[in-house]
Amino acid sequence: MTLILGLETSCDETAAAVVADGVSVLSNVVASQHELHEPYRGVVPEIASRAHLERLNPVVREALHEADIDFAQVDAVAVGNRPGLIGSLLVAVSAAKALAWSLDKPLIGVDHVEAHLHAAFLAERRDSSGQRSEIRDQRFPALGLVVSGGHTSLYELTAPTQLTLLGRTIDDAVGEAYDKAAVILDLGYPGGPMLDELAQTGDASACDLPRSLLEKDSLDFSFSGLKTALLYTVRGHPQGKGDKAAFERTADDLTDKQKRDLAASFQAAAVDALVIKMRRAVEQLDIAGRRPKTLIIGGGVSANSLLRRRCRELGDELDIPVHIPAMPYCVDNAAMIAGLAHEKLQRNEIDDLDLPAIATTRV
Ligand code: KG4
Ligand code: ZN
Repeated sequence: MTLILGLETSCDETAAAVVADGVSVLSNVVASQHELHEPYRGVVPEIASRAHLERLNPVVREALHEADIDFAQVDAVAVGNRPGLIGSLLVAVSAAKALAWSLDKPLIGVDHVEAHLHAAFLAERRDSSGQRSEIRDQRFPALGLVVSGGHTSLYELTAPTQLTLLGRTIDDAVGEAYDKAAVILDLGYPGGPMLDELAQTGDASACDLPRSLLEKDSLDFSFSGLKTALLYTVRGHPQGKGDKAAFERTADDLTDKQKRDLAASFQAAAVDALVIKMRRAVEQLDIAGRRPKTLIIGGGVSANSLLRRRCRELGDELDIPVHIPAMPYCVDNAAMIAGLAHEKLQRNEIDDLDLPAIATTRV
């Protein structure tokens, strides 16, 4: 059994996990910083990196304790080193280097986006059915959709770390659009899960919000038009421009039912756009003779109830198996980092102690 300790601090979750053989999660500890960023309704990078510094050591100790192992049993140290907020990334990258050096174990840098597409194959230790390597070979070529606060991208995967970008958002990421929509509707922070919950009791046909599909063959996404349409629906059209713009109404003027209906209408439009592009990607790959064998979803928005249902329906309709992470592995976590690192360790893809933290990849 190979035990990998994973660390992840790319945004506002301080996370550590121990994963056996790439799929079996022995511990998955996530210290969320939501309460620190809530007053600003968004992540403040300086606050995030300071909080990571304070929290990482206890989180690592907890991950070892829950896995019931000590440092000596760790076979390799993995870290999400790209992409993310640079100050935040540096905390886990520095800690992982120190650990790997002092334990004299391999250091493995992992791409956060690639890791989100590994999350669907993780399982808790007691659920030993974990999607083991036997099915790894039947997974590719795959179509991967990463939907998070920072990314909305479609990839063709030929191996766990061999990704070709097919399309991506040209403006907001879908998670970002959810968070902004939640601000417009005056819901709490983080907005995505709250909007999702509210939408479940609303009428999605109440308001016809736009699905931006771009050109006929495009696999790119755009969510800023949807966000603006929701803003104008809630507040009316602004008088004046920029900071001086005054709206006719505020979210306070909405009834509870109107809020629920608008949340459901927003959710329907956002998810439609994602599913339509997935279907389009499958069609295009099919014509090119590279029909995907599986659909893999990952990232915080893969926790969304409607997206999960619609992706499963799409898979049934196209007769392609769909892999969506269990709920704890949708949002940022270190189990996905440790899990994917196992694939790299097996191929001897090991990093030196000069491993950099990289803020942006795939632009
Ligand atoms: O993957 P993640 O934890 O962090 C990034 O890498 O960005 O994704 C966080 C994003 C946030 O925008 C959050 O609002 C969104 O995922 N999110 C959801 C849901 N749960 C989390 N969006 C819609 N529905 C959800 N249930
Ligand atoms: Zn993420």
